[in-house]
Amino acid sequence: MHLAVTQLYKQFKTRQGPLVALKDINLSIEEGEFICAVGASGSGKSTLLRLIAGLDTPTAGEIQVDGVPVTGPGPDRGMVFQKYTLYPWMNVAQNVGFGLKLQGASHIQRRERVTHYLEVVGLSQFARALPQELSGGMQQRVAIARALASAPKILLMDEPFGALDAQTKETMQQFLLELWRRTRTTILMITHDVEEAVFLSQRIYVLTSRPGSIKTEIRMDLPSERNYHTKSHSTFQDCKETVLDLLRNESGREAAVV
Ligand SMILES: Nc1ncnc2c1ncn2[C@@H]1O[C@H](COP(=O)(O)OP(=O)(O)OP(=O)(O)O)[C@@H](O)[C@H]1O
Ligand SMILES: [Mg+2]
Repeated sequence: MHLAVTQLYKQFKTRQGPLVALKDINLSIEEGEFICAVGASGSGKSTLLRLIAGLDTPTAGEIQVDGVPVTGPGPDRGMVFQKYTLYPWMNVAQNVGFGLKLQGASHIQRRERVTHYLEVVGLSQFARALPQELSGGMQQRVAIARALASAPKILLMDEPFGALDAQTKETMQQFLLELWRRTRTTILMITHDVEEAVFLSQRIYVLTSRPGSIKTEIRMDLPSERNYHTKSHSTFQDCKETVLDLLRNESGREAAVV
């Protein structure tokens, strides 16, 4: 098992008392898989990703990467956030190379990696540009290049295209699929966009409403070569309906509980 999450439980202390964000989370991801997790707002998606990234610690349960327990952030896991998180005072190349610098990579090594990953995301011409000179989609491509530059085993993405307009989002989805085909990096992506999850991933974990637990796991039966036409396939539509129904049931359950 590449990434193994076992009996994960997360409780936050809040002014209103303890809040259980995640419970009974069990998931496993093999090397090279592209997995999405979907769930309603507040179902603990970002919390789950932050725990896997090592940015927060579980209340109980365990996370392992290649059999090694996660105890904090590490270069084996690259993270891309929903909000643009580039350093505004650094140019694109400096942003991409920042993690490498922290890891102590030499100047030459850094330059090679930065050049390579800027090429991978198609932004070589913008190496010296500042983030605010780029569009939202371009900024997210820089963030992806930054995450990939440390050669992570797993790329963790928290609604990376959530803030983009519909057309840019489609272009970015296509871009990410091609990048995954080329690099075969293991990807775990969180989204609340069901169509995006069905289009991109090989398997989807559907989370329940708060506290988030794994409601079910769905394996997509779509051709591995996906393009714009895939979305009009009947299999695609069927998968999307199945996941949407599961989420609708969840919001119904939550409404009944409240
Ligand atoms: N640091 C924190 N302290 C207290 N409560 C928190 C903290 N972080 C998250 N929560 C709570 O945990 C629950 C899950 O939050 P989380 O951000 O993981 O949800 P989400 O599924 O990512 O939602 P969204 O789709 O809106 O991004 C929420 O009820 C939230 O209020
Ligand atoms: Mg979130």
